[in-house]
Amino acid sequence: MISDSLNIFFSFCLFSILGWILEVFYRSVRDRRFVNPGLLKGPYLILYGAGALILMGCVSLVHESNFLVKIFVYFAATTGLELISGFNAQYFFHTRLWDYSDQPFQYKGHICLKFSTYWILLAFAFEYLLLPPYQSLFNWLPHGIKTLFAGVVVSMILVDLAVLSVRQFLFANKWTKKEEAAIETEFLETAAPLLDNPTVKALSQYNHHKGKTRLDHVKEVAWLSFLWGKRLSLDCRAIVRGALLHDLFFYDWLREGPRLHGFRHPNISLKNARKITSLSKKEEDIIKKHMWPLTIIPPFYKESLIVSLVDTFCSTRDYIRSSKGKGDRSRFTVHS
Ligand SMILES: [Fe+2]
Ligand SMILES: [Fe+2]
Repeated sequence: MISDSLNIFFSFCLFSILGWILEVFYRSVRDRRFVNPGLLKGPYLILYGAGALILMGCVSLVHESNFLVKIFVYFAATTGLELISGFNAQYFFHTRLWDYSDQPFQYKGHICLKFSTYWILLAFAFEYLLLPPYQSLFNWLPHGIKTLFAGVVVSMILVDLAVLSVRQFLFANKWTKKEEAAIETEFLETAAPLLDNPTVKALSQYNHHKGKTRLDHVKEVAWLSFLWGKRLSLDCRAIVRGALLHDLFFYDWLREGPRLHGFRHPNISLKNARKITSLSKKEEDIIKKHMWPLTIIPPFYKESLIVSLVDTFCSTRDYIRSSKGKGDRSRFTVHS
């Protein structure tokens, strides 16, 4: 069992590296410059590692079958893996690792007849040319060397994957230009009734953070919260409306206003908001809890937590910028 596991990890790592070398050679020659293929930074392509494991399973199943059965099985295994990987890369990482859209007999750019034929030929080369020497190498190598090699490569791949996932979640733009335009339009349409309201407009008369009016601040919080709401599939209408109304108070909080402004202004804003529009429970919670954890009772909805976090982020960023004398370099660009 341990030997089987080691065989799986060792072959996965070795063929991931060999696949990377093959792809680097092919793409670098084609583009006449060094090309590091794949999503990960290290010298491995896990698609080839997974493909090798699948092919090993296929070979053990069909090694005594006739030629046509092998062609069919190798086609299904390699092209199926390519199709699933293409869809996954697009869905989870919003990227295309290859695009066969310009090839004849292709499907959604993920697979095409020409490359499926290459994969079948490669699968036969794997069975007859690569697998026998690989098995000899595996039997010959000392156990410790194989364990060390597999351990180091798997660790590198896991760290690489973790870094990629975090970066993707935090920074990637998952939308195309067309989708971005539609998202911006949706935001403006949702925000318009409140932005046209004279009470909300009056926020432009109040300095909120240095170099930024309160209206600028609530619009920025609404826009960034809306983008996170989109990304996390939350109730974006409640987010936009709650965020636009979260600081609906009319005094210069640095010079005047009630004592304990930080604790009290969420309720003041809520009262003022109720005067100009009817609010859902979620929108009320967003306004009331936007200073959490200062206001102790935690947000009841995910939307409230997002607005609270974005508000803290925007306020902290404004404070740091003003203390460095950099003024407002906000990337808030929605035109309203
Ligand atoms: Fe506030
Ligand atoms: Fe705020």
